[in-house]
Amino acid sequence: MSIIAPSMLSADFSRLAEEIADVESKGADWLHIDVMDGHFVPNLTFGAPIVGAIRPHSKLIFDVHLMISNPDQYINDYVRAGADRITVHAEACVHLHRVLHMIREQGLPAGVALNPGTPLSAIEEVVDDLDLVLIMTVNPGFGGQKFIHSALSKIARLKEMLVQRGRSDVLIQVDGGVNTQTAAWVREAGAGVLVAGSAVFNESDRAAAIAALRPGGA
Ligand code: DX5
Ligand code: ZN
Repeated sequence: MSIIAPSMLSADFSRLAEEIADVESKGADWLHIDVMDGHFVPNLTFGAPIVGAIRPHSKLIFDVHLMISNPDQYINDYVRAGADRITVHAEACVHLHRVLHMIREQGLPAGVALNPGTPLSAIEEVVDDLDLVLIMTVNPGFGGQKFIHSALSKIARLKEMLVQRGRSDVLIQVDGGVNTQTAAWVREAGAGVLVAGSAVFNESDRAAAIAALRPGGA
């Protein structure tokens, strides 16, 4: 199983609806939406009004990655804007268990993201309360950064943890520095959902770029 989620962060922001329609027609499975607040991460992108504005233009699964402090205060805004799934950072949640249940109570799958410096033990107590784990393969904040190799063993250990806990249904997502080469590595390690910003949006042939990230694609 391999889900490809182009990250809107690398799209042309002056033509968002067209950019999204383009990757949708070229084989994207999900649209990854990177929300940054200039506080949890050193960059600022867009908020719920933009998500709501693009919603009518796409049937893609809106995969909202909240790189923001106090995400609990904003979950409902993103649900109303049309998010299909929401992922919060473990590092940004004092009450992670509560936030995951807030997301699930809205009927959405709940994800937890872990920065490269955060150990898997951060999710040990909420394995039964989540639907997706996002292993960051760069420090979040910017597109086009270099893939951090130590994440490969982390993905493999996460997979093992999920099997041991009877949660092999939980999706393993990777985000950051995914390209045709690293896509094969992360898939081998056990990831099923691949986010790719620059490797899709910066390519002129986006159908080929998306296909190249799938098994046997490169
Ligand atoms: C990083 C974001 C990523 C980013 C990935 O902070 O969460 O989703 O867009 O960009 P690439 O694929 O270019 O590394
Ligand atoms: Zn992201």
